[in-house]
Amino acid sequence: MGTYLITGATGGIGTAVAGLLRDRGHDLILTGRSADRLADLAATLGKGAHARTQAFHIGSAGAAGGPAVRTIALDLSEPRRLEAVLVDAGPPARLDGVVHAAGVVHLGAVEELEADDWLDHLTVNLVAAAELTRLLLPALRAARGDVLFVNSGAGLRANPRWSAYAASKAGLRSLADSLRAEEPELRVTTVFPGRTATSMQASVRAQEGRPYDPSDFADPRTVAGVIVGALETPGDSAVTEITVRPH
Ligand SMILES: NC(=O)c1ccc[n+]([C@@H]2O[C@H](COP(=O)([O-])OP(=O)(O)OC[C@H]3O[C@@H](n4cnc5c(N)ncnc54)[C@H](OP(=O)(O)O)[C@@H]3O)[C@@H](O)[C@H]2O)c1
Repeated sequence: MGTYLITGATGGIGTAVAGLLRDRGHDLILTGRSADRLADLAATLGKGAHARTQAFHIGSAGAAGGPAVRTIALDLSEPRRLEAVLVDAGPPARLDGVVHAAGVVHLGAVEELEADDWLDHLTVNLVAAAELTRLLLPALRAARGDVLFVNSGAGLRANPRWSAYAASKAGLRSLADSLRAEEPELRVTTVFPGRTATSMQASVRAQEGRPYDPSDFADPRTVAGVIVGALETPGDSAVTEITVRPH
């Protein structure tokens, strides 16, 4: 069984990915901003058969029992601090995959978006993903692991009022493409989900002034299934890009 680090683990898609990977018996390192919410999630996941939870101890895998679920609070709006936080926690020696699922979105016309709006999108959605990947590369190389970026349909086309988010996601695709070419031993995947029923989508609908009905959108568990399917692809092949849209 492998070890996977998930950013945005407290979010809709990240939590669903964590649940699927836990069900398959993998060890998890869950990251998000709130230590309390991470602890709640780890406790919930830990209720699975034979699972154990352990907070803030990356790299000290337990010997007995089922999958270990560990947590580390990381604020991706401060990418310069990520290295110190990881060093404090003890970086994993070996990592079978990282799933970059954290993200933020604030809609607005270019006329309305201020520098801080742009910095927030680019920092959390792009710069932190690049910096975290850099810091985890030794562990990923050791396992010939997977780097999976949860992108967005907005990373492929920018609609009115979506400029900052779309630009951050277009940049994330470029990050993935360069990394894939630089690190041939790793598998690098970009997943482009369409609108998915999570708190982010509820927020988007509110920002659009439109009602939110989760049944109108993709189920995060379906998107997670696509993500885990890419991670589980046999080693003779790599899934480079997948688009998944609500149907
Ligand atoms: N939902 C959609 O319709 C949709 C469509 C296409 C793509 N996506 C992408 O899918 C990914 C997951 O989104 P989701 O729908 O699951 O959204 P979500 O439920 O709102 O979850 C977002 C996650 O990002 C984390 N996050 C936000 N700011 C952070 C920060 N500064 N530092 C650390 N973590 C931070 C949140 O952690 P906290 O718990 O600390 O807030 C949360 O875990 C995102 O990259 C999003 O862009 C979503």
